[in-house]
Amino acid sequence: MNINDFYNFKKGKERFSMITCYDYTFARIIAEADIDCVLVGDSLAMVMYGYGSTIKATMDMMKMHTRAVKNGIKNKKMIIADMPFMSFRTDKYTAAKNASDLVMAGADAVKLEGVDGHEDVVEYIIKSGIPVMGHLGLTPQYIKLFGGYSIRGRDKKAAQKIMNDALRLERLGCFSIVIECVPEILASEITKKIKIPTIGIGSGKETDGQVLVLQDMLGLFPDPPSFVKQYLNLSNDVKLALNRYTKEIKGR
Ligand code: KIV
Repeated sequence: MNINDFYNFKKGKERFSMITCYDYTFARIIAEADIDCVLVGDSLAMVMYGYGSTIKATMDMMKMHTRAVKNGIKNKKMIIADMPFMSFRTDKYTAAKNASDLVMAGADAVKLEGVDGHEDVVEYIIKSGIPVMGHLGLTPQYIKLFGGYSIRGRDKKAAQKIMNDALRLERLGCFSIVIECVPEILASEITKKIKIPTIGIGSGKETDGQVLVLQDMLGLFPDPPSFVKQYLNLSNDVKLALNRYTKEIKGR
């Protein structure tokens, strides 16, 4: 899959899947699965490092994990890497250097949250040749400003603002937009209105694609958000395997 496939999915009304990945071992499995594209999300700060929010992700972390994922994925899937907190709230040259560092680490595109105040950065990164995925709704890097992880765009004014931001990101040249935790009706209206694909998470089933955090859907992370559909309960299986191993050792 490359950037043109995103547009083709939208044109052909075909839905697509994105999954987060942060390491080589899972990347090798994903490379052989039917998943369409891979996100090295800044959620790694929580999932891989145990921090309470994504704002602890750094450029060094993002580069290191993008390299590991690229080593496992090779050229089998498109890789999108998150630009971490504040790495694009700079002058456009510094932001583009950060984006290009992620590309050098193995990303095919970068994702960044919000749009207010960094329109010039989005435009400059795209004009430098790096595809940008937007991210609206519950943007976790703004968690201190939002005061919690609740649904965004509930009232008319807030919904209109998210719609306007989506149109703005499209005008700036983004190739797709993640829409996180907004009412299904809003996600559906945005999806119908913009020409680039939307990728939903906790925003209902009407978006062009869906994304989940790998460890959440596999049942590996202890407290997944309530909207997550778990496809396995792997933490249980891992515990059972570890206990069996220990029992065999103790029994010689
Ligand atoms: O960092 C992340 O994992 C994300 C997705 C959940 C959309 O941004």
